[in-house]
Amino acid sequence: AAPLVIPAESFIKTLAESPNLTSIPSTYTYSTTPLVEPVVSGSEASIPIIDFSLLTSGSPDRRSQAIHDLGKACQDWGFFMVTNHGIPEGMIKGMIEGLEDFFNLREEEKKEFRGKHVLDPIRCGTSSFNTSAEQVFFWRDFLRVFVHPDFHFPNKPLGVRELSHEYCKRVREVYGELIRGISTSLGLEESYIHNTLNMEDGLQILVGNFYPPCPQPELAMGLPPHSDLGFLTLLIENQIGGLQIQHNHKWVNVKAIPNSFLVNTSDQLEILSNGKYKSNVHRATVNNKATRVSIAMANGPSLEDIVGPAPELIDNESNPPRYMPMKYKDYMELQQSNRLDGKTCLDCVKIQRD
Ligand code: SIN
Ligand code: FE2
Repeated sequence: AAPLVIPAESFIKTLAESPNLTSIPSTYTYSTTPLVEPVVSGSEASIPIIDFSLLTSGSPDRRSQAIHDLGKACQDWGFFMVTNHGIPEGMIKGMIEGLEDFFNLREEEKKEFRGKHVLDPIRCGTSSFNTSAEQVFFWRDFLRVFVHPDFHFPNKPLGVRELSHEYCKRVREVYGELIRGISTSLGLEESYIHNTLNMEDGLQILVGNFYPPCPQPELAMGLPPHSDLGFLTLLIENQIGGLQIQHNHKWVNVKAIPNSFLVNTSDQLEILSNGKYKSNVHRATVNNKATRVSIAMANGPSLEDIVGPAPELIDNESNPPRYMPMKYKDYMELQQSNRLDGKTCLDCVKIQRD
């Protein structure tokens, strides 16, 4: 198919709110026939749940059980929910509402924050990150902000910037604990990832997603199947639902435990673990009833870090390296300037064996 030539100039929110909208434009038709792939519900498929308080309880037995569960979740699913993480419910609710208020600003106000390049610290837009590489538009507006090591954020609506600053810090702490547990589960030193990858300067990216009601949700897509950048993405949402994760060749509907984090393992963890922990492929579907808001926090190494398989996990006979090392910044440019499509970026650094 020919690439899309019309840039998505306005936000999907504006289109979704146009009076008497009963069908979607063909440029938004992701699938011309309703998606019929098998979908199972999350509870049926028992998505792993990690009780964060066990990781930090101080009891060595509980901690090793939690680390074991964490490793198993990474290996079997690449996805888990984190409960009892200590971030107040009010803060999570405030973040969701704050982002919703941002998307409710007037178009002109939002356009002030329209960055263009993948390394621009604030980018507000619609569809995927690079519409010119896509064949269709996605039913989604976004705000993408670099929040660490330097904190950026739009200065409106009032108060959201301050709340986000605190929230990002709290998420970094939870992420830090999870990544220590994951290092241990790989048989590495607890602080291996922290120390070898200069995590103090780790890049943290906040992505707010806004999916308004869609008159033909079975033909449209909020975000197509993809895996994330970085080590772990911690996501919160407003309980509307729409996230699906791939597991055993099926799509699984994620029904979030209220106030839990939905955690995806991402590409740099797959690379570092030499393929033991595969990054999770997921997508966002849309509905015709309510606006869904989600906030994904992608936590990765610093832009200058080079990520390859951990030498400690490599054995040239039994476990040769399966990925080529690449600077995170280059990986990011690759991912953000191409079509958002499954694991195509990871395939670029994969070393084909057997
Ligand atoms: C994402 O993949 O970045 C967002 C998915 C979601 O909105 O659930
Ligand atoms: Fe994602």
